[in-house]
Amino acid sequence: MAMKVVSSCLLVISVVLSILLSSHHFAKADNEIGKPLITKTCTQTDFPDVCTSISESDPHSSSANLTGLSRIGLEFTAAKVNETTAEAYKLLINATEYYQWSMRSACFQEYNSSVHQVYKGLEYFDQQKYHKANEIVFLVNGEIHTCSVRDVPELTGTNTLLSKFTTDLQTILHQLY
Ligand SMILES: *[C@@H]1O[C@H](CO)[C@@H](O)[C@H](O)[C@H]1NC(C)=O
Ligand SMILES: *[C@@H]1O[C@H](CO)[C@@H](O)[C@H](O)[C@H]1NC(C)=O
Ligand SMILES: *[C@@H]1O[C@H](CO)[C@@H](O)[C@H](O)[C@H]1NC(C)=O
Ligand SMILES: *[C@@H]1O[C@H](CO)[C@@H](O)[C@H](O)[C@H]1NC(C)=O
Repeated sequence: MAMKVVSSCLLVISVVLSILLSSHHFAKADNEIGKPLITKTCTQTDFPDVCTSISESDPHSSSANLTGLSRIGLEFTAAKVNETTAEAYKLLINATEYYQWSMRSACFQEYNSSVHQVYKGLEYFDQQKYHKANEIVFLVNGEIHTCSVRDVPELTGTNTLLSKFTTDLQTILHQLY
C-alpha cells in the first residue's frame, strides 16, 4: 500500500515536471525570431522548401517573430495574387478562341475575387482576428486550386506556388490562435 502511494506520488511529480518543462519549452520558442524561427515554423508545414524560400525572400524576416512572419506571408500572397490577376487579365483579352477565352475568364475571376479577399485578410490580421484571416487564406487557396484545374497552362507555375504557400500559411497562422 505504502509502495503504491509512493509510486503514485512519483507519477504525479513526473507529470507535473514534464508539463512545466514543456510549457517552458513553448515559452522559449515564442521568443524565437529570424532564421531559426523560419526553420522551426516551416518544418511543420506541408511544403517546407516553399515556406522557407518565400519567408526568407523578405528582408524583414531576418528579425521577425511569429506575428511578423505571418504578416510577411500574407503580404506575399496579396502581392502575388494581385500581380497574377493582372497577368490573367492580359491573357484573357488576348484569347483567340472561345474555349481559351472561357478558361482564362474563369481564372481571371477567381484571382480577381482573391485580391479583394486577401486585402480583407490583412485587415483582419491587423485587428488581431487571426482566425478570420486564416479563413480568408483557406478561401483564397480554394480559388487558386479551382483555377489550377482549368486549362490555363500559362498560370500553372504560379498556381502551384500559391497553392503550396497558402497551404503552409494556414499552418503558420494557426499558431497565433
Ligand atoms: C513581435 O514583433 C513586433 C514588432 O516587430 C512587436 O510589436 C510584437 O510585440 C512582437 N510580438 C511578440 C509576441 O513578441
Ligand atoms: C495591384 O497591382 C496594380 C498593378 O498591377 C496596382 O496598381 C494596384 O495598386 C495593386 N492593388 C493593390 C490593392 O495593391
Ligand atoms: C498575346 O498573344 C500573342 C499571339 O498569340 C502572343 O505573341 C503574346 O505573347 C500574347 N501576350 C500575352 C500577354 O500573353
Ligand atoms: C474584380 O473584383 C472586384 C471586387 O473585388 C469587382 O468590383 C470587379 O468588378 C471585378 N472585375 C471584373 C472585371 O470582374
